[in-house]
Formats: sequence, C-alpha cells, structure tokens
Amino acid sequence: MNIQALLVSRFSAALAQLDAAGAAVPVSKSTRPEFGEYQFNGAMGLAKIKRCPPREVAQQILDVVELDDIAARCEIAGPGFINIHLAPAWLAQQAQITLADERLAIPKQPQQHIVVDYSAPNLAKEMHVGHLRSTIIGDAVAKALEFMGHHVIRQNHMGDWGTQFGMLLAHLNDRLQANEVAETALSDLEDFYRAAKVRFDEEEGFADRARQYVVKLQGGDAQCLALWQNFIDVSITHSEEIYSKLGVSLQRTDVMGESAYNPDLPNVISELQAQGVVVEDAGAQVAFLDELADKNGKPAVYIVQKSGGGYLYATTDLAAIRYRKTQLNASRTLIFTDARQALHFKQTEIVARKAGFLADTDRYQHCPFGMMLGKDGKPFKTRTGGTVKLVDLLDESIERADALLQTRENDFSTDTLALMAQQIGISAVKYADLSKSRTTDYIFDWDTMLSFEGNTAPYLQYAYTRIQSIFSKAGITPAELSASAVPIQIEADQEKALVTKLLQYQDTLEQMVDDATPHLLCTYIYELASLFMKFYEACPILKDTVSESDRQSRLALCLLTSRTMKNGLDILGIATLDKM
Ligand code: ARG
Repeated sequence: MNIQALLVSRFSAALAQLDAAGAAVPVSKSTRPEFGEYQFNGAMGLAKIKRCPPREVAQQILDVVELDDIAARCEIAGPGFINIHLAPAWLAQQAQITLADERLAIPKQPQQHIVVDYSAPNLAKEMHVGHLRSTIIGDAVAKALEFMGHHVIRQNHMGDWGTQFGMLLAHLNDRLQANEVAETALSDLEDFYRAAKVRFDEEEGFADRARQYVVKLQGGDAQCLALWQNFIDVSITHSEEIYSKLGVSLQRTDVMGESAYNPDLPNVISELQAQGVVVEDAGAQVAFLDELADKNGKPAVYIVQKSGGGYLYATTDLAAIRYRKTQLNASRTLIFTDARQALHFKQTEIVARKAGFLADTDRYQHCPFGMMLGKDGKPFKTRTGGTVKLVDLLDESIERADALLQTRENDFSTDTLALMAQQIGISAVKYADLSKSRTTDYIFDWDTMLSFEGNTAPYLQYAYTRIQSIFSKAGITPAELSASAVPIQIEADQEKALVTKLLQYQDTLEQMVDDATPHLLCTYIYELASLFMKFYEACPILKDTVSESDRQSRLALCLLTSRTMKNGLDILGIATLDKM
C-alpha cells in the first residue's frame, strides 16, 4: 500500500472536477500528529491561478474529493492546508491485508533489466575501507531492486588491467622462480605491492623488466598472461573472503573486470569515429564536450585513446555501456563509486548518448558517495597514516562486539556468543555506513556504531529480539499467529501511529530504489522500531487485564512490525537474531 500515491490519485480526480486537471498535487506526510497523517498543500497554488481566496479553494476541493473510505476527517488549516486524518478502521483493514500477504502487499514494479555496478576493487591491491561503501551500498540497492521485481545483473567492474601489473608480474615471477607458490607470495597483497614498488624505484634494471612485462601482457604473451591470471585469481579470492565476511551477495560470475573489454576497445574507437563523436587531436582520439565547457566557453576534453594508441579507463567504460546494452539488455545502470569520479561518469554518459550506445529512455545513474573520515575529520587512516585494510576493520569490529557481549550478563554458549559477535560486529559497521546520507562524508566512530541506543544496528537488532520474546512469552509462534488471522483493531494513538508507519514501507522502498539511497530505509526502520517501543509501553499485551481480542490484535501488530523490520534488514544485509 502506497498511501501517498492513493491520496495523490484521489486529489487529482478532485482537481479534474474543478477544471484544474494537470495542476500540481502536492501531498506530503504531516509533521505532527495533530495535523493528521497527511496534508494536501495544493490549494494555495490553485488559488493564485483561480484568483480566489485559498481557504475557499481548499473548501471547494474538500467538497468534491472522494476520501470517505480512507479518512476519518479532514480540516482546513492556516492559509489553506488540508489536513487528512486517516480512518482507524481503514488503516486496520490495510494492515490486515498486508499481514496476510507474503510480500507485505508490496506490488512488483514493471520488470526492467538493471545493471548494478558496485564494489569493483583494484586487484593490484588489497580491498581497503574506500571499497566498503561501494560494496555494501551497492549490495543493498541491488537487493531492494530485486525485491521490487527487477531483473538485477550485478557487475563487478574490477580493476584488473593497467601498467602497474608490469611491476607486480615481474616481482611475482621472481618469487615463483624462488620456489614460492603464488598463494603464499600474495597472501598479503599490500606488502607485495609495496615490495614491488621499492624494487621498481630502487633496483637496477627492474623498472625496465616491469615495462617489458607490460608490453608482453598487452601483446598477449601466453606465459605472461598465465602469470597475470594467477595473480588475478588470488586477488579475487581475497575479495571473496571479504564478501563472505560482509554477507554480500557478489559471486565470481559477477566479475566483469576491465580486461574483459580489451578485445572490444578498437571497435569502440572506430564506432565513435564513425559517429563523429571523437576527432584526432595531436595523435589522440578526443571528444570535445561543449556541454561541459568552462566559463570561457572552452569545451571539456575527453580522451578515449592516447597518442601512443593506449586506451583509458574512459574507453573501458564506454565498452561496458555497449556490452550492457547489447548483451545484457539493460535499460538502467547504477554505478557506485566515490564522488571524485562524478565528472568522469558525466562525460562518459554524454559521449555514450551521442554515440547512440544508450537509448533516450535508458537511465545511466552514477551514484556517488562521500568519504569515510576519522574522528579528526580527516580521511580514515591507520595510526601510522596508512590505508586501513577492510579485513582488519571488520575483524576489529567483531572483536569489539565480542568484548561488548562479555560485559552483558547472559547464558549463551561460547559458540553462540562467537556467532553473535560476528553478526553484531559486521552489522554495526555496515549499518553505520548505510544509515548516513549517501552523498556526504561521514565520521567513523566505533562507540556510536556499537551503541545499543540511537539509530544503530545493535539497537535495531535488540528491538527485533524483543518482539520475538513477546511471542515466546505469549506462547505463540509467528507462524501460528499468521495462520489465526485475528482482526486488527486500532484504538490507541500509538497503535494508529504504528500502523500508519507500517503502511509507509512500500513508499519508502520505492523511493530508495529510485534514488539508490539505503539511508531512507535505515531511517524508516529506526522510526518504525521507535514507534513500536512507544506502542509497547502504552498498549500492554500480556497483562491479565487485557481482553483476548486486544491481545490478539496487538500480537498481530507485533508480527507485522517484526516482518516489516526483517524484510527491511534483510534488504540492507543486516543480520537479525532471535535472542540477544
Ligand atoms: N575500479 C574502480 C575504482 O576502484 C571503480 C570502478 C567502477 N565502475 C566503473 N564502471 N567504472 O575506483
């Protein structure tokens, strides 16, 4: 149920009756319960057009709008707002329908083929904290799109090609010659990279050998390619360890690294030339983009092939667009990288559209994100100023969650505690990230993310377990409760507020998949949990004084809350526990 959309359609019909079809239909959630649950704010604008006092126009709208089934009452407030107080009986009926449905009565959207390009680490190095955001935000959006009925194609556009591999392969070759196996040599990619770089900078003759490796690799030398493949395989395995630790759904089959597009790059260039999108400029192939001209009118320069013939990150992205359109049949693409790449994707999109690689109706959305900062407000670093390896960060979070659990009294077995520490620790890091507005930088802070209070994973996980414990105290399982289909009734204000929120889930998901903003879903679940706590305080369930019908109805609300929370947390990739 999307209440907002329903109200919009009812008000549109009313406006049509008043000869104002096509006028804006601004419906929004009310900010305070005394103003009802929703507001229609279009009377003022219409009054200007009709040259009529806005409150009079509001009254005319109220006279014709069909809301008898939905609203208990409407009132005109202030300069001409219409406040809508939803009818408890209608809300109860909608809640009942939602509870009876496996998908929480959320309809699937018309199916699209959607590419979600995320994680995409550089395989020359170990995954670091910068890839956390891309990986988990992308995964949450991919899952949400899937739930909304789309055919989602995950694409891990890994950085597996480039001149840096020359130095790495020369170094790897030497280590293998010294009888090491690749897995051991590459067990710490960060160290390996550093050692290769030192040799490159300092060792006589090494840099030349590294360059020869680049030439051989690009020339398709079989031995060199085998060495490269070995390196890539080990490095992907490292990334997969992180994915499994994070509970992220990326698979090996989703890997479509930069190198995969190599054979197609010459075709991309000739196609761009044929379309007149690029011209030769000092030996290079260049698109001049008037759309992004500077303030003196000088067009932006977008290079697709260097003067020596070399290809660039840009060329590969254009090839990816073509592949996704022609082979994957994608009509929408979402790409998750940090905000510093925004210009690159803007330029790439312009060029791709000019070349006809994208249809007019295709969406190409770069979804940028801000940086993760330390408590000092500077980019997040180790104490010695190095980049933080993602695996170390995750392990530390698990340790901290474990320490936290040790301070709480419990009778869990050691194994259970270890599992809980993992679920809480990983969720805390993920949720702290997902809950921040995507586009802004955020400060990484262990203490707040592992707190049991506020908008945190532990708080939500705990709220969820509390609902489960209500069921066990009531001696009923969620399955039995579902099957019993008792009538839901809404009496207390807290019940009404809770149900209204529950019915806003669809609307939240629709917005999240449109804007690729998991934080909207986080805020929603947090507010839902908070309204649940208020309901639980105000409306006793298990006390003897509570009538059987009230108890059943309230248990049904517990169940609907629990299922909605679980659905949302699953999409976000946050583990739910039955006990904590
Ligand atoms: N490998 C790149 C990086 O680490 C991200 C790739 C994003 N996807 C793309 N199609 N360019 O910054």
